[in-house]
Amino acid sequence: MGAGVLNTYPDLLPVTSATPIITMGEGDTPLVRSNRLGRELGCTELYFKLEGCNPTGSFKDRGMVMAIAKALEEGTKAIMCASTGNTSASAAAFGAYCDIPTFVLIPKGEVAMGKLAQAMIYGAKVIMINGNFDAALGMVREFTQRNDVTLVNSVNPHRIEGQKTAAFEIVDKLGGAPDMLFIPVGNAGNITAYWKGFREYQDLGRSQALPRMMGFQAEGAAPIVRGEPVARPQTIASAIRIGNPATWNGAIEARDGSGGVIDAVSDDEILEAYRLLANKEGIFCEPASAASFAGLMKMHRQGMDLSDKRIVCICTGNGLKDPDLAVSSSGGQTIEVPANIEALEAVTIGSES
Ligand code: F0G
Repeated sequence: MGAGVLNTYPDLLPVTSATPIITMGEGDTPLVRSNRLGRELGCTELYFKLEGCNPTGSFKDRGMVMAIAKALEEGTKAIMCASTGNTSASAAAFGAYCDIPTFVLIPKGEVAMGKLAQAMIYGAKVIMINGNFDAALGMVREFTQRNDVTLVNSVNPHRIEGQKTAAFEIVDKLGGAPDMLFIPVGNAGNITAYWKGFREYQDLGRSQALPRMMGFQAEGAAPIVRGEPVARPQTIASAIRIGNPATWNGAIEARDGSGGVIDAVSDDEILEAYRLLANKEGIFCEPASAASFAGLMKMHRQGMDLSDKRIVCICTGNGLKDPDLAVSSSGGQTIEVPANIEALEAVTIGSES
């Protein structure tokens, strides 16, 4: 517990004797068995992997720890990323932990407040641009080519290496690969990383089968589904508001190599999944994360038989990053009463009779 991914899987990562073994306690996240929603969908074995339990509240920490360890090994002077929020929070935290100056580029007005707060309090230099994530990533790529600053987006292969450990954990916990893995797709690094992890474990004989990789984009930001970049991606799920994924090919390989799908879910479907995960499973994830379960609901509606299937949905980030959205979309009103017991009884047990 808390050993971190570099300590847990050193032989399966680009860890050498020169690599500093750092950790902020990332990885080893809960794989929680569904108590209600699986039954409602007729799914025998449904699990949620709670990546929001990582130190900065998203899966990004798995890849970031590897990228930062290699950056330290190479004597990096500063790091930079573009981000819809979670990557910047993770980079900023590891930058603080390792005393590396950190620059983050974010699309102005499009990042959830909790994520912005993280990058700021961890002490990164936060640079807002008048443009979307794709424009920010283009700038970061050019800047890091011209300057002695390390890029820590998932186009840095060490990020993918670290993130593949989530697939290892699933197989280690279940004793084999699931039948299907549902996962949100934005820049497409994570689906690429999981697929790599599952294949490596199979090559090592630690699992017999491979899961079908079921990736879901938001309808207004679904370039892979459409087969062409989206110039102005739109979705409530700001974390996956991406029009031209950097690891597009990786997502296609995962889909085709596994007999899976890359499909889209609407904002309404995402929000429905977001609310259901919270009020039927006690899982508060962010809207982008709910795209995975929204995808499972969509497949169920389309008639996919989920019985006798072992399914894992990845909950990529913590719902606390965007509390305003939770309040506005919960639909539940709060009640105000005078501070006496009769008033309390009137609005609780009294209102039931
Ligand atoms: N879920 C969350 C919560 C994310 O923050 C992201 C990506 C994804 C899913 C999609 O993962 O990009 O590997 O396909 N967030 C990036 C960021 C883009 O900047 O934080 P992906």
